[in-house]
Amino acid sequence: EPKLKEVFDGDFLIGAAVNPLTIRAQEALLVHHFNSITAENEMKFERIHPAKDTYEFGAADALVSFAGRHGMKVRGHTLVWHNQSTDWLFEDGSENLTDRGTLLSRLKSHIDTVVGRYKGAIYAWDVVNEAVSDEGEELLRSSKWLDIAGPDFIAKAFEYAHEADPNALLFYNDYNESHPHKRDKIYRLLKSLLDQGVPLHGVGLQAHWNLYDPQLDDIRTAIEKYASLGLELHLTELDMSVFRFEDRRSDLAEPTPEMAELQAQRYEAIFRLLKEYRDVIGSVTFWGAADDYTWLDDFPVRGRKNWPFLFDASHRPKPAFYRVVEGA
Ligand code: XIL
Repeated sequence: EPKLKEVFDGDFLIGAAVNPLTIRAQEALLVHHFNSITAENEMKFERIHPAKDTYEFGAADALVSFAGRHGMKVRGHTLVWHNQSTDWLFEDGSENLTDRGTLLSRLKSHIDTVVGRYKGAIYAWDVVNEAVSDEGEELLRSSKWLDIAGPDFIAKAFEYAHEADPNALLFYNDYNESHPHKRDKIYRLLKSLLDQGVPLHGVGLQAHWNLYDPQLDDIRTAIEKYASLGLELHLTELDMSVFRFEDRRSDLAEPTPEMAELQAQRYEAIFRLLKEYRDVIGSVTFWGAADDYTWLDDFPVRGRKNWPFLFDASHRPKPAFYRVVEGA
């Protein structure tokens, strides 16, 4: 079948999130269709820097060398996040919170070490992930980063990353990026970082979408709004859940034909839309590759199966794949 990366050659890179298991189970599919990978978990703080003086690079190194062998680019994910960090980072050694200076110096040495190690091999980093709050008027979500270091932990992270690898493209990454309220807040954060001269080069739209939401118009508005700042855009974690939030207790054994058709239509329309913005979109990365494995099997309801990709559980192209390819 046609290779996705060739179908969209000259438009944007086609990426997949991978982990050590999927690299083995999905190797042929990954190599055929994708020219970019992101580590699903292996570069997150708790994995790569689990204790104060302990770094675990094995799994991350293996993913980077897999990419190198197959001519794929690598997106780095992620340096600062409120999830999947480790307790020691925020503590003073006796279970009290540490102080701002200590936290920032730990952040700097983490970024120096991790970004420095993959200098030249990782071309783009999600420096800060999900710092904006979903609800209410507060711009930033509450987190230990915010509580201990104050709001400029964000600017600091970008500055440290830029020092560690001046050639890497540095991204702010978030979800609900197309919803009007959150979209406007993300825009405000990005604009203020740029106004302060922070080395920010791109915005990652996670794109955890479903059959019904968000509306295409809201996606288009988000793209235009972020692009108006002169930033590069990446879709960083695209998947299309066949459930709506209200249906999350569904025990559906497989998508109904209507759901499969809707998924195909949505994927086709979305890729047509993305192609219109090929000049500002550098990469479209799925948060996985085929329906045999997706984090949505376990989230938000444990054990629930989902089918969010263009390839089925046997790695065969789904109707959605052909629609995307024919529409391109
Ligand atoms: C998810 C992984 O896919 C899961 O395996 C893990 O248990 C939790 O994190 N937004 C992000 C990603 O930025 O890092 C998350 O990845 C999904 C939501």
